[in-house]
Amino acid sequence: MSEPLEQFNPAHYAGVRRPLLEAETLPAWCYTSKAFYDREVERIFMRVWNFVGRADAIPRAGDYMAFDFAGVPVVLIRGKDREVRAFVNVCRHRGTKLLDGKGNATAIKCPYHSWTYAIDGTLEIAPQMEETVGFDKTAYGLKPIRLETWGGFLFIAFDDRVDGLASHLGDLPRVLESYGLDDLVCTRRKTYDLACNWKVYVENAMESYHVPTVHGGTLQKQWRDINPPIDAHGQYCGLYTRHQGSRALLAGETGFPYIASLQGDAAAGTYYPLIYPSTMFGCTYDCVWWLELHPMGPARTKLIVGSCFPRATVARPDFDDVVARYYRRWDLSIPEDNVISERQQEGLASPFSPHGRFSYMEPLVHTIDNWVLDRVLDQ
Ligand code: FES
Ligand SMILES: [Fe+2]
Repeated sequence: MSEPLEQFNPAHYAGVRRPLLEAETLPAWCYTSKAFYDREVERIFMRVWNFVGRADAIPRAGDYMAFDFAGVPVVLIRGKDREVRAFVNVCRHRGTKLLDGKGNATAIKCPYHSWTYAIDGTLEIAPQMEETVGFDKTAYGLKPIRLETWGGFLFIAFDDRVDGLASHLGDLPRVLESYGLDDLVCTRRKTYDLACNWKVYVENAMESYHVPTVHGGTLQKQWRDINPPIDAHGQYCGLYTRHQGSRALLAGETGFPYIASLQGDAAAGTYYPLIYPSTMFGCTYDCVWWLELHPMGPARTKLIVGSCFPRATVARPDFDDVVARYYRRWDLSIPEDNVISERQQEGLASPFSPHGRFSYMEPLVHTIDNWVLDRVLDQ
């Protein structure tokens, strides 16, 4: 079905708005249309707290990480005062992109005309600008982006009007408190470029309906019947599964000791929260991993998978040997989700892709789709 002219008219989405077992899936154009994607960027990604990884990726003064997020060049850089800051990664002279990838900088020098910024963003050198009328260097520092942290994880907000990160996370920090997130170490960060819409991937991560089919040879033993979604109070949703043994290992493997501080439900199963809009966590007995999505276009998404273990686990002499079992589990199962997501995107791009229906196994797909519609449709 091709996209209608009045794409944001709620009348087109009445079927998605019905209760789960009466509802239709989102129209295919929601995953392929440039206009729909642009509206999501404007009304979602530019207006919320976006997860951008972990502070231990840039531990030393001057360490930086540059990436594009929903069309904005962003750089995260740690200052001499040890604070991590976020800036628009664009020169204030005539707009050239400044830094690439990961590295360490003592100053940020523009590759075009050598304007040079300190690592706290202040403009220090602007050659041959002394005759420019009323030019005040102090007014041309890098544009800061709001940044807040929770449990060692970094979040940025492009809109100065949004409330603090705590209001976005709601009660999630309390739910996950006993994992001791501050004490985790990210031991591996792996990136994938996906030819699919960001929602395709989020939906996949938040249902277990596909596990016996897509992960039949890898995770099938982890499949369970439906668990009711977590009663979430904040901009997140999630699943919780009660079970034995780490969910980050393949069946039959043994791994590290459990996180010593776990309490209550965290000590009896695994939490899979989605922090809206596009970051999923797996919090299991012995480790925490995350799937971080950066929207790059209607049918392009960057996926970053981070693996975190408690400091005491990472200090074990057998860490490197044993962690390979965990990495193998992720390296087998994540590409399975990547392949099926890109395949779904191919089908959704067809002009004959119809509305589908939901199983009782997919409550959060329906919840997520309605969360998006709440934000992008015309009122
Ligand atoms: S654009 Fe950066 S110095 Fe000219
Ligand atoms: Fe999966």
